[in-house]
Amino acid sequence: MYRTHTCGELRIADAGKTVTLAGWVQKSRKLGGMTFIDLRDRYGITQLVVEADAPQELVDIAASLGREFVIQATGKVVERQSKNPKMDTGEIEIALEGINILNKSLTPPFTIEEQSDGGEDIRAKYRYLDLRRGPLKRALELRHHIAHECRNYLDANGFLEIETPYLIKSTPEGARDFVVPSRMNPGEFYALPQSPQTFKQLLMVAGYDRYFQIVRCFRDEDLRADRQPEFTQIDCEMSFVEQEDVLNMFEGMMRHLFKKVLGVDIPNPLPRMSWYDAMDRYGSDKPDVRFGMTIHEITADVQGHGFSVFDSVPYVGAIAVEGAAEWSRKDLDALTEWVKRPQVGAKGLVYIKLNADGSVKSSIDKFYTPEQLKDIAAKVEAKTGDLVLVLCGPKRKTQTQLGVLRLELAGRQGLRDPKVFAPLWIVDFPLLEWSEEDGRFYAMHHPFTAPKPEHMDLFYSDKKEDLERVCANAYDFVLNGNELGGGSIRIHNADVQERMFQVLGIGKEEAEYKFGFIINAFKFGAPPHGGLAFGFDRLCALFGGQETIRDYIAFPKNNQGRDVMIDSPSKIDQIQMDELCLASTVKE
Ligand code: AMO
Repeated sequence: MYRTHTCGELRIADAGKTVTLAGWVQKSRKLGGMTFIDLRDRYGITQLVVEADAPQELVDIAASLGREFVIQATGKVVERQSKNPKMDTGEIEIALEGINILNKSLTPPFTIEEQSDGGEDIRAKYRYLDLRRGPLKRALELRHHIAHECRNYLDANGFLEIETPYLIKSTPEGARDFVVPSRMNPGEFYALPQSPQTFKQLLMVAGYDRYFQIVRCFRDEDLRADRQPEFTQIDCEMSFVEQEDVLNMFEGMMRHLFKKVLGVDIPNPLPRMSWYDAMDRYGSDKPDVRFGMTIHEITADVQGHGFSVFDSVPYVGAIAVEGAAEWSRKDLDALTEWVKRPQVGAKGLVYIKLNADGSVKSSIDKFYTPEQLKDIAAKVEAKTGDLVLVLCGPKRKTQTQLGVLRLELAGRQGLRDPKVFAPLWIVDFPLLEWSEEDGRFYAMHHPFTAPKPEHMDLFYSDKKEDLERVCANAYDFVLNGNELGGGSIRIHNADVQERMFQVLGIGKEEAEYKFGFIINAFKFGAPPHGGLAFGFDRLCALFGGQETIRDYIAFPKNNQGRDVMIDSPSKIDQIQMDELCLASTVKE
């Protein structure tokens, strides 16, 4: 037996017991002839002591221990002289009688403690060492806990966990596919699933009624803090449901997770907001509603006063920043530069200050009287001491810019507390999105999403304006400004599906080639069905109070999509290339 207890287990009540622990030497230090060793395993840290008068052999072994050596240590649990209330085991230590070195270790390239001195790159290269640290260990424990509770809830509600294949054909989520060449079918490729979307729908056609899977998805897209090329979804689908049924079921799941994992009660029912409201008031389809600072349209209020910048645009909108009237000219200049950065893309920034003394100061006071400026500020719900910030341009673009500005300022003002949770549903998404660049419609969600029944006439119209107005039976679950999940009621009728492909400019042949299997399946009695998928990594990160998902994945990729620990992607040898009928065009 390697150990009698773990390193996180022993308490004052165990004093007097002789125990054996096994783990890694986090650090060892000498103090007045005594040696203190912090021994770590997954469960915690226990302090070991080799007394000054211990047998010389033991003193020598203790002196030879390096960081991260794996040892087995036997001794007696004793009450500590100086207790450490920060540690679970801080009231005791082990007076050692024997040490057995199980394995030596090279000196690790960074300190493996709560706070490491290692930079991100070196920690990524030695991920297995970084994973020994408390914060990562707790992140993975949290991930496990959430997955477990998720399965509990879904199982209790009759969902079956069913695996779907990874070597498939292109899926319609709108990102680039990762592809895998097939040796047995020269010149042909599998695509890795961007989601199990089509398979879960086929499971509904097959009569499985309630499906879920905690499943890996693959998308070749530009990476961000909340995006990995391979990530995990809690993917779900239900038959014989309407939107209301799906929302209730998964609101229930989130309520269960919040309660069981965080001990937090979320509102019942959860708030819902239409996509149009979210865009108009928050400039985002994933609004952070932990704070106000909402967007107000002031187009009619500001036009016709001779200020040509406002007169020449279709939309003028503003937000009020609480208590910011005292910001200096320099602050405002810096903010103007900030909104002009390509990431925001505004042309300029207009301000109105409602000074504490009741006066008003604005960058446009040549064109408006103080009374008019006050009226505009009132429209934006600004109070004395607040600062009104105005942007203008095309409607949705300007709202989005105001939304970005709103989040930035809220961040600066400390309004985005990760311990406060404000979940909500966004509903009534437009079904289609027009791309000026490509001169065609794209599915806002994916091409299997059903139009709202009451919009069927618009859906069959030939007019672009009509099609733009079609709403989908689609919904997103949003938490603190993050899109945590999304789904829809699906098309289950082959004719409607065909019309959808037609609207998206996907010809009969292309549709047949890409999605023939599902169009065909719909001809064999597809039940009405719908579902959604949550981003599991994002859920874990937000529950852990972070927006970066990397630490909630055991072995993540970096921003270039590389795993620097295993050095992948990498070249393959010529024999393998030939076998797969591949030729590289990359010049060495
Ligand atoms: P969607 O594409 O909205 O829907 O994805 C569902 C959720 O997955 C998460 N997500 C990601 N997380 C990390 N890295 C990524 N690259 C990434 N991409 C997406 C998000 C998102 O809300 N098949 C549909 C679901 C359905 O209709 O049932 C789908 O995949 O949190």
